[in-house]
Amino acid sequence: MENCLCNITTASPEETIAAGERLALRLRPGSVVALRGGLGVGKTYFTKGIARGLGVREEVTSPTYTIIAEYQGNLPFYHIDAYRLEGDEDFSSLGAEELLYGSGVSVIEWSERIPQSIPKDALIVEITLQEQNQRLITLRNMPQ
Ligand SMILES: Nc1ncnc2c1ncn2[C@@H]1O[C@H](COP(=O)(O)OP(=O)(O)OP(=O)(O)O)[C@@H](O)[C@H]1O
Ligand SMILES: [Mg+2]
Repeated sequence: MENCLCNITTASPEETIAAGERLALRLRPGSVVALRGGLGVGKTYFTKGIARGLGVREEVTSPTYTIIAEYQGNLPFYHIDAYRLEGDEDFSSLGAEELLYGSGVSVIEWSERIPQSIPKDALIVEITLQEQNQRLITLRNMPQ
């Protein structure tokens, strides 16, 4: 796959959390992680791991109507869930784009819903269902 940084297969939610924690070591102020993958593939578990790796003590959850949840770890941490957004304009109207260019770390679930809003230097993480509880997690840079 083009621009592929690595592939990992996890076999449980805990392993997906651990993968997120490892990725967090590579994140810096302003990093954006754009998650892709269908319903229930494990995006929120992966996000929990990133948050943990960034020193967020509060539990990251996925409340139905919250689009942006802000946490504080070693850095500000923004968990964005674009599932209920109509598209990029909807995202802009929340004034959320500027968060992505600030000094926090942002993780976006359903990033495919807001393609124009994803910064060019974002890290794309695609999660796909494999057999049983296995998930394939693929990291890559945005195609330039
Ligand atoms: N290897 C795995 N990694 C992550 N989750 C797994 C794994 N195996 C099974 N699961 C299950 O898959 C589900 C993943 O839920 P999660 O909320 O993280 O998905 P999601 O992609 O955020 O869903 P949504 O599209 O609703 O936002 C959980 O029920 C979890 O127990
Ligand atoms: Mg989720």
